[in-house]
Amino acid sequence: MSTTKTEQSLVVLGAGVLGLTIAYLAALADDVSFNIKVIARDLPEDMDSQAWTSPYAGANWSPMELGGRDERVRHWEEKTFNKLWDMIPTGLVKRLPTRFYTARTINISDLWWKDLVQNIRMLSPSDVPEPFKAGVAFDTVSVNPAEYLPWLQSELTSCGVTFERRNVRSLDELKSLVGPDGILVNASSLGSRSIIGVEDTKLYPIRGQTILVHAPGLQESVIVEAETEESTYIIPRPGKGQPDTAILGGTFQQRNWDTSLDMQIARGIFDRCAALAPCLKSAESRILKHNVGLRPAREEGPRVELERIALPLQSTHDLVPWNGSPASSCDREQAMPVVHAYGFGPAGYQRSWGAAEEVLELLKAQVALKQNI
Ligand SMILES: Cc1cc2nc3c(=O)[nH]c(=O)nc-3n(C[C@H](O)[C@H](O)[C@H](O)COP(=O)(O)OP(=O)(O)OC[C@H]3O[C@@H](n4cnc5c(N)ncnc54)[C@H](O)[C@@H]3O)c2cc1C
Ligand SMILES: *[C@@H]1O[C@H](CO)[C@@H](O)[C@H](O)[C@H]1NC(C)=O
Ligand SMILES: *[C@@H]1O[C@H](CO)[C@@H](O)[C@H](O)[C@H]1NC(C)=O
Repeated sequence: MSTTKTEQSLVVLGAGVLGLTIAYLAALADDVSFNIKVIARDLPEDMDSQAWTSPYAGANWSPMELGGRDERVRHWEEKTFNKLWDMIPTGLVKRLPTRFYTARTINISDLWWKDLVQNIRMLSPSDVPEPFKAGVAFDTVSVNPAEYLPWLQSELTSCGVTFERRNVRSLDELKSLVGPDGILVNASSLGSRSIIGVEDTKLYPIRGQTILVHAPGLQESVIVEAETEESTYIIPRPGKGQPDTAILGGTFQQRNWDTSLDMQIARGIFDRCAALAPCLKSAESRILKHNVGLRPAREEGPRVELERIALPLQSTHDLVPWNGSPASSCDREQAMPVVHAYGFGPAGYQRSWGAAEEVLELLKAQVALKQNI
């Protein structure tokens, strides 16, 4: 087959669920051929590193208030839900019967997400435990990061995408990695709040502590509508290698960077969850692991947009660590196209496919623009 397509060089910074999903859609794009390299400090094999968030997610689709007031986010979530729902037969995604309890009275017709999930229905008052006022049941989805992220990576590797472990500290370093005609996707999340050059100070963490359990008796997911920094949820997850596990949560501690474990919080999480699912106290249930992860939140919500960064930078340039490149090659003027995709806070998985589609559209528009010049 003869083709006139030239390969567009693409560097994806970050190998969390966002970076991997974006690389995946770009690798499969049929109308543009991308030559893709993923650069990240933490890779899917680093499931114990606290320097990134993706290992610590629940990871289910559950209602968040931002989806109710931001049309774009709602669209991402709808697309992602449908994509994950279609993936259930692969075994990577679990169909998750869920009970949602709240301390207020609710009417299903007022819930923005009523048509997004499956089989939603009101729970009868006798099925709603004290001290909650109301509840609904519905079917949603969950994934297991320990299997889902390596799956994405292996799909990418078989498409010819390469991975490089590297801690990027400044824009100058990125410039030489991306090259003069390349495009950069910035899916570096909280980890690069301070890549020197264009620090985004709107980013902040929301600390989440959880417990991973083996609990064969658990049939359903339970989510309590949270009003404080303490939240309560039980999320069974799929597992080909490790069946019958679930995540118990949790906390929602804004602007708390502490990644150390708090056993008093763990006690509270376990007791609140066991009150809703007594089988957690049975002899066959076991605690496998305690986790602390930082959700990458952003004051104005997630950022997905194209920016052209003029290089070399003027402002903070004198404090940039020396990276070994000769000064002359650093100083050629260039406007590097960067597509940002970060700040997904508590919902990076449930927005991943929809947001990645939007990133791909931005990349294609950038390629088309270059070809018309
Ligand atoms: C307790 C908890 C429960 C959660 N539950 C859910 C849930 O149920 N559903 C859901 O959708 N979401 C959930 N989340 C949120 C979800 O985990 C995040 O939104 C998501 O993982 C963010 O992915 P990301 O790819 O943006 O960032 P990350 O996973 O943090 O990845 C960032 C990547 O960038 C790399 N990087 C950063 N800086 C640099 C640098 N300077 N140089 C090189 N590489 C760099 C990192 O190494 C990493 O590869 C939960 C989070 C927590 C903590
Ligand atoms: C729920 O809201 C709908 C539409 O506003 C209304 O018709 C219905 O009576 C309400 N149901 C209850 C139980 O309040
Ligand atoms: C990428 O995003 C981070 C925020 O996560 C920001 O601090 C950093 O400056 C961005 N990098 C580039 C090259 O734009």
